[in-house]
Amino acid sequence: MYKCLVCETEFDSFMTFGKMPIANGFLTSEDFKNEFFYELEIGACPNCSMVQLVRQPEREMMFHEDYAFFSSTSEKQRVHFKTLSDEILDLINANDPFVVEIGCNDGIMLEHISKKQIRHLGIEPSTNVAEVAADKGVNTISEFFDYELAKKIKDEYGNASVISASNVMCHIPYLDSVVKGVKELIGDSGVFIFEDPYLIDILEKTSYDQIYDEHVFYFSITSLAKMFDKYDLEIFDVKRINVHGGSMRYYVAQKDTKHVSVDVEKMSEVEKYNEVDKLSTYQNLKTKIERSKEELNNIIRKIKTDGKRIVGYGATSKSTTITNFCGIGPDEIDFISDTTPIKQDKYSPGTHIPVKRYEEFKECYPDYALLFAWNHAEEIMAKEEEFTKAGGKWIMYVPNIEVIDDIL
Ligand code: SAH
Ligand code: TYD
Ligand code: ZN
Repeated sequence: MYKCLVCETEFDSFMTFGKMPIANGFLTSEDFKNEFFYELEIGACPNCSMVQLVRQPEREMMFHEDYAFFSSTSEKQRVHFKTLSDEILDLINANDPFVVEIGCNDGIMLEHISKKQIRHLGIEPSTNVAEVAADKGVNTISEFFDYELAKKIKDEYGNASVISASNVMCHIPYLDSVVKGVKELIGDSGVFIFEDPYLIDILEKTSYDQIYDEHVFYFSITSLAKMFDKYDLEIFDVKRINVHGGSMRYYVAQKDTKHVSVDVEKMSEVEKYNEVDKLSTYQNLKTKIERSKEELNNIIRKIKTDGKRIVGYGATSKSTTITNFCGIGPDEIDFISDTTPIKQDKYSPGTHIPVKRYEEFKECYPDYALLFAWNHAEEIMAKEEEFTKAGGKWIMYVPNIEVIDDIL
């Protein structure tokens, strides 16, 4: 039995994926012998419906001076966060607004706020990406956000007009401290905007590669509304967004201070219809995940029997779950192509597939590309017309296992 990180109710996990390495822990061959593994296991709380990992590696093992995820590697993400910054700029009408971002990474969002000379603060514990943000003129501190830090920030800067947190709330197991900190810092009238991969998308697409060490929570409005209610906070709006394979953006304020949009009710109904509060939903998900693994392995086995070459496209953290869970290694995949310098010339976590520069893909097309960065399919497809024209095929595994000429 495990204890819910939110309400402390005891529950059993519904699935274990076996031993997993750090999802973003790309490594050199010298590091193979010291590689860290833990058991990746997930459950759903029967009381508050929060879907969560039952254990997570220490935060310092995931977020540090060599963090491999740089937000700005995708053009789509750059546009997405420019749009979010515009929305934030429209929202702030205080005299001297103050914008805080939790997990600002390389400054992909805050750089636009900074350019407008608006008071702001980025909180980013991974120092290498924080440095990139600072170089862009973003006021950055390298700390982990929690209640203590929120109080310090409030003492120094006053209340935040907006706190933004993208793809980071679902990373933090000590949610109680974070939410208390957010409540303290937004004062009476600030707004908290955050977005994370959405549970409904994971269920609909069987996108189980979202399940890895950093993602300790898989949020729904159902689980979050209950949680915020304990702190007299309220979700007053939601917006489904097409990033990271399907995410939800939540708008939160002090309870009864904002008009609650009809979308909150509508999406809560969708969640009820999808039975996010029932254990059978997760048992079905487990069955689908196991089927997906089997079908992917069958396809890969057949391609290899035919003597063809497969290259992985995008050394995503998501791919760490797929390769380790499905047992896909260098015998199946020659290498993974990725545009992020820190990942290149290293090996994929656990399965030790070489990660190479994009040019290596471009200069010698394989027969098949296994699209690990499926959430960037449109952007990649626009770039890779030549590959498909040359007869290259894409192996997709979300939402279904397919081999196609054209991913769109
Ligand atoms: N917001 C960016 C980055 C998401 S990755 C985007 O959406 O693209 C998550 C980031 O949160 C990492 O850069 C990580 O270092 C940071 N992070 C992890 N725990 C944190 C915490 N407790 N407080 C603030 N940032 C944290
Ligand atoms: P992302 O899907 O954001 O990953 P994660 O699962 O870690 O959240 O990461 C995309 C990865 O794919 C990133 O390492 C950069 C790489 N990439 C390419 O190599 N080429 C591309 O055209 C794009 C869009 C991404
Ligand atoms: Zn719970």
